[in-house]
Amino acid sequence: MKLSKTFTSMLPALAASTAVLLSSPAFAETYGFSQIGSESGWRTSETNSIKAEAEARGIDLKFSDAQQRQENQIKAVRSFIAQGVDGILLAPVVETGWDQVLREAQRAEIPVVLIDRGVDADPSLYLTKVASDFTEEGALAASWLAAETNGVCDIVELQGTVGSSAAIDRKTGFDSVISNFPNMNIIRSQSGDFTRAGGKEVMESFLKAEGGGDNICALFAHNDDMALGAIQAIKEAQLQPAEDILVLSIDAVPDIFRAMADGEANATIELNPHLGGPAFDAIAAHEQGEEVDKWIKANGPLYLPDTAEAEYQARR
Ligand code: AHR
Repeated sequence: MKLSKTFTSMLPALAASTAVLLSSPAFAETYGFSQIGSESGWRTSETNSIKAEAEARGIDLKFSDAQQRQENQIKAVRSFIAQGVDGILLAPVVETGWDQVLREAQRAEIPVVLIDRGVDADPSLYLTKVASDFTEEGALAASWLAAETNGVCDIVELQGTVGSSAAIDRKTGFDSVISNFPNMNIIRSQSGDFTRAGGKEVMESFLKAEGGGDNICALFAHNDDMALGAIQAIKEAQLQPAEDILVLSIDAVPDIFRAMADGEANATIELNPHLGGPAFDAIAAHEQGEEVDKWIKANGPLYLPDTAEAEYQARR
């Protein structure tokens, strides 16, 4: 068959518009993402990374910010179910109280991927968890501190959000290691809610309660933001962070590398914020009828001041 000259000249335009149509959101899957909030620098990076990954894959991502409230997350998940999304990403603020809503998603045959934090529920209620092993992070932190102090250290601890798997498991891992060292003790421990302001406020109260803080050997903060707030409090108490009080935390956000490079923090453990890729891959694999592991782990290394300037420049 011979194509007319006019039709042939239209072919490039037709091909281009077909490509646009094929990549348009109308052909993409729709997922819901219930995020905890924006309590820390790490959380903001995680949100941005997951949104960018969805965009790169042509996924229509419905985003809901729960502002630290579980009831907002439950409402968001129910609304995703009502909208008939193809999958749900849930970063659960606390560990308990999810069974009912997870069962509702399961009844609607919508796979749920837990992002970053875990839940205390039957694993059959969700597809998988894409997250770091928080217990390992806590144990790694304590092992570093034990080596650094020859097993002799009075520690203050800034815990994360009460009831969150991140706070519960990091504490469990940390405690399990220091229990092997009779001269390592946690002398104060309180939640700073994973925020910079919370870290500063609670550290101020620790310093006051300890008569100025001269006896405090180290701070273990469950995240970098609380450590950064605490560093401020230590300086205001006329002590030198990282020298008078060792500062150890988790996340590896750019600001903690700045603090380490400036001699104000000693160590951080990386928490990978790029969890969208493995989560979307897991849902796609499930849709193809493939088995998906119940826990897709994403643990990171411990960083020290020697590489801090380079890490800061690379990540800021
Ligand atoms: O659940 C992970 C923790 O939550 C991160 O360590 C902290 O920064 C965040 O807010």
